[in-house]
Amino acid sequence: MDVYGLIGNPVGHSVSPPMHEAAYEECDLDARYVTFEPSEDSLAQAISGADALGIRGLNVTIPYKQTVLPMVEPDPVAARIGAINTIAFNSTPEGYNTDAAGVRRAFEHHDISLTGKAVIVGAGGAGRATAHALADEGVTIQIANRTYSRASELATELQKLGFEASSHELDELSTLIPGANLLVNTTSVGMDSAKSPVPRPDLHDDLAVMDAVYTPLETKLLKDAREVGATCIDGAWMLLYQGVEAFEIWTGIEAPIEVMNRALRAHLE
Ligand code: ATR
Repeated sequence: MDVYGLIGNPVGHSVSPPMHEAAYEECDLDARYVTFEPSEDSLAQAISGADALGIRGLNVTIPYKQTVLPMVEPDPVAARIGAINTIAFNSTPEGYNTDAAGVRRAFEHHDISLTGKAVIVGAGGAGRATAHALADEGVTIQIANRTYSRASELATELQKLGFEASSHELDELSTLIPGANLLVNTTSVGMDSAKSPVPRPDLHDDLAVMDAVYTPLETKLLKDAREVGATCIDGAWMLLYQGVEAFEIWTGIEAPIEVMNRALRAHLE
């Protein structure tokens, strides 16, 4: 039997086990997906122990996405983003950031062309993965963050790589969004609350709006966006496609996307 898993702290409420195990069943793979909560002090031992035990792959979540970086061989995208959410144990532990591919694939699933200008709200881990993913596609990146210095560092980093990027205060959203065709909320604003990170009058029907928040699935931002006729992509799509990408890296076979989507949504709803 092949063993895959998730390391983080806490991981008790993760939706990854049912999503991945639905895929194993659909593809007739003799595999299980289990969760582990190592302490920060034992993280390096946990990674080498997993390797020694023949665990095939691990997802990595909060608070270890950056901490594991020196313990793996990161691929170029993960190295640039500075965070890992997927480890594949091959001849060495290889590190990937499937959050970035997840954002791209979630947009593609909705037939949104990745061109033009994006406004990304937030400059944390999810914001970094989103900015790098969209910049790679040639999208102009505008990052707005509560702590301006984090937005500025990310934009400077992208500029040094030759990408079009700028940094902004949150109160500039009203001047940025009218000229944008993509909007992604990567902050936690809207999680279990009726708050939106974006003033409703700024939204328009030429926008594709993605929200990284998935509790609730229809956030205040997405409700407002739906009401003005924008295309809405809820947080479960990002979650789904980071998992799809990890499954494909680990197994080398095409993921049963519909089955994974159904399992994930059944678990979230
Ligand atoms: P993640 O890895 O999920 O992106 P993170 O690195 O902690 O988590 O980043 C959280 C993001 O949400 C940051 O952009 C944070 O803004 P700061 O950099 O100013 O901390 C943003 N965020 C969290 N709570 C917020 C709030 N109440 N209003 C605006 N932004 C908020």
